[in-house]
Amino acid sequence: LTRQDLDGKCVLVSAGPTREPIDPVRYISNPSTGKMGYAIARAAEHRGAKVILVTGPVSISPPENVETHKVMTALEMAEVVLAQAERADIVIKTAAVGDYRCEREAEQKIKKTGDCMTLDLVPNPDILMELGKRKGKKVLIGFAAETEKLTDHAQEKLRKKNLDMIAANLIGPSDSGFGADTNKITCFSCGGATDALGLMSKEAAAHAILDKAAGFLPECGV
Ligand code: C5P
Repeated sequence: LTRQDLDGKCVLVSAGPTREPIDPVRYISNPSTGKMGYAIARAAEHRGAKVILVTGPVSISPPENVETHKVMTALEMAEVVLAQAERADIVIKTAAVGDYRCEREAEQKIKKTGDCMTLDLVPNPDILMELGKRKGKKVLIGFAAETEKLTDHAQEKLRKKNLDMIAANLIGPSDSGFGADTNKITCFSCGGATDALGLMSKEAAAHAILDKAAGFLPECGV
């Protein structure tokens, strides 16, 4: 039996990509499969937490005994996460949220003309940054998928978004990041600690992240 160290705690996990519509048949998205977030939701449930999973469109099934909210766009994810976060002791934002959306979704399928085309994009709200502004006693954990300068980018996001910890991985290597069953995560904590977890299954990484998240709960005195 998994230890029940999250018994009585509420953990909110966001997972998967978002889809930003261009017209009725096209969208902007990314290759996130939801595997890492779903692994965290499952692990938190096994450890006794009440789990709220807010998920973009993915092809895997949600874990059992988890309250699942399905969303499509970043704006929908923002609305659900910001409302549900009120109940959460720990928020883990694994989702790969689209940074921009089309200013207007075309009502009809856009026809090709042979000319160049420009899409007008406007920034989406940064959900985690919003949570960081009203953090309270909540434990906030972010993810950062980077193609370069992992440490610099992760530490900047940790600070800017007012997080307790950020779990960062490089995308590019086939054993980590989008779609892989394994991940190679480095955790950067607000106190300055850095912990390179090494290559492990997403399930093992999920438990390692939850171990650290539990350590930030107010009763742990951090
Ligand atoms: O996209 P970025 O690298 O800034 O993502 C870092 C963290 O912020 C991730 O945990 C991601 O889920 C979160 N994020 C968010 N809302 C956005 C963009 C990112 O919550 N619009």
